[in-house]
Amino acid sequence: MRRWTDAFNLVDALRDLRQDAHLGRVALPLPVLAAHGVTLADLRTGRRTPQLHALVRELAVTAHGWLDDADGLADRHPALAASWRTLIRLQRLQLRALERGRPLSGGRRGTGRLRRALVLHSGRLHAALNWRRLGPVLTPPQGAPVPAPPPPVTPVVPRPRPAEPPLPPRPHAGGARPPAGLGDRVPRHVAIIMDGNGRWAAERGLPRPRGHAAGQSALRDVVYGALELGIPHLTLYGLSTENWKRPAAEVEEILRLLGEGADADREEVFARDVRLWWSGLPEGLPAGLLDALETTVRRTAHRRGLTLTLCVNYGGRAEITAAARKLAGDVAGGGVHPSAVTAPLFARYLHRPALPDVDLLIRTGGDHRLSNFLPWQAAYAELVFLDTLWPDLDRTGLWRAVETYARRERRFGGLGEAAAQGRIEST
Ligand code: IPE
Ligand code: IPE
Ligand code: MG
Repeated sequence: MRRWTDAFNLVDALRDLRQDAHLGRVALPLPVLAAHGVTLADLRTGRRTPQLHALVRELAVTAHGWLDDADGLADRHPALAASWRTLIRLQRLQLRALERGRPLSGGRRGTGRLRRALVLHSGRLHAALNWRRLGPVLTPPQGAPVPAPPPPVTPVVPRPRPAEPPLPPRPHAGGARPPAGLGDRVPRHVAIIMDGNGRWAAERGLPRPRGHAAGQSALRDVVYGALELGIPHLTLYGLSTENWKRPAAEVEEILRLLGEGADADREEVFARDVRLWWSGLPEGLPAGLLDALETTVRRTAHRRGLTLTLCVNYGGRAEITAAARKLAGDVAGGGVHPSAVTAPLFARYLHRPALPDVDLLIRTGGDHRLSNFLPWQAAYAELVFLDTLWPDLDRTGLWRAVETYARRERRFGGLGEAAAQGRIEST
């Protein structure tokens, strides 16, 4: 119930942003606005700047996640469940309208009156039918032990079910444990170009798609390894904008596997403390895959152990070009002055503005190139190239790459420890 109330309040706060800004009492914490570069003055104008759009979309993901949790309460009397789901569906309608860019000025404009009416009427009808069919108390199924009747004064109210605690990562098959003593040299963000599936299959005389299927277990093991080592962000290259050049059957198989892997009901890693994000262009992706990605993003939005970003139909140039196009639109529209265009401002236009810089970029499969992967975010990444073909990798390969990374000195254009030390001594 609290989850639903939280979501309700958040939707309300978003819907009334403009009005509240005029009254000087915005319900969202100011640091949240500041983190997205949104000012009270922006809110008062009611204009949808890209920053405001990004803020609304991010908070909508959170609200959808809370509604997913609240949905789990609908397991009591079917009539109550029907009413409960109707409330949730109405909130989702408002959220979708906000995500699509309806004005943030209060009221219910933009939610689609017909849709609202349909949701309300079908909810009422279901609730009424179930009350009539089952009466106020559920009859136990035949053969089941008959429980003691509830005390007459107790109303049938859905009881909150605590959110399932995430399972610990599955241990390594050979019992390997993560390296100790890395301290603060564990990278914050590891990105991986999972390459070598086709060659793995060819070596075994198998068709290439079998290599992609074998890569799924490597992916799972590496996710567990990242969780065990405490890496906060892991970003994986699933399908590039250039991979469409491959035979249709191979691309279809990759898309099918990605859809399966993104489905939280099928993929075991999402029972762990893993939050899914995805990055890439939605155009051309099958609706089922997009739905699996978006649903899992919402369902795992509250998790904090590891953020797993799946890059699907991703290309660095496409990402930067799309960002430049949106920014150019804002500059032309007068919303952004050319002198305000800085690297941090530009980064807010990327597919996933909250994705941090990559610290360690790993490529398996023996090739030494970046293949259009995260050029903006990996500008200062340490690169580690492994000869292992992706399906042969497990978490120990990830840990070895992290140990290599931990021994490197990162200078970011400066002089580094030793040179700085020498400079101090020689002055
Ligand atoms: C990487 O493996 C996976 C994807 C591109 C989806 P490849 O399919 O590129 O494997 P190789 O490089 O041909 O061995
Ligand atoms: C990069 O691998 C893309 C993914 C791993 C998804 P490719 O195999 O497509 O890269 P190139 O073609 O060898 O550069
Ligand atoms: Mg390849």
